[in-house]
Amino acid sequence: MKLLVINGPNLNMLGIREPDIYGKQDFHALEEYIRSSAAELGHSVTLFQSNHEGEIVDVIQSAYGVYEGIVINPAAYTHTSVAILDALKAVGIPTVEVHLSDISTREEFRKHSFVSMVAKKTVCGLGFEGYKKALEYFS
Ligand code: DQA
Repeated sequence: MKLLVINGPNLNMLGIREPDIYGKQDFHALEEYIRSSAAELGHSVTLFQSNHEGEIVDVIQSAYGVYEGIVINPAAYTHTSVAILDALKAVGIPTVEVHLSDISTREEFRKHSFVSMVAKKTVCGLGFEGYKKALEYFS
């Protein structure tokens, strides 16, 4: 399937940011992991990362009619962004939500996800492997 993988703010800082929570591998390693997992599963993937909410909304809108599925780690916007939720609802593309950490066992403010309201599935706390599980949903 033709899939779009979106990573939100600060994920480009992987390897540097809070390695005890997010691991020591950098963002380039995550992108390589996603590409090789997608190839293994026979999916074609486009990778997109942004620190800006509006850019994420734009890329979701432009996915309409182009991609058959979206895998998204909205990062901090998970907990705040009605705009990303609305964009996902607008395009109606099946979406799987991923988090490297287990947001259900961290601070209270991380327990609520707007994106979960539209996601077909949410994968949390599996590190890089969570992205593979998300891609498997589309297999
Ligand atoms: C995250 C969890 C979010 O709460 C946090 O803001 C992130 C990363 C994760 O992958 O575990 O930036 O989405």
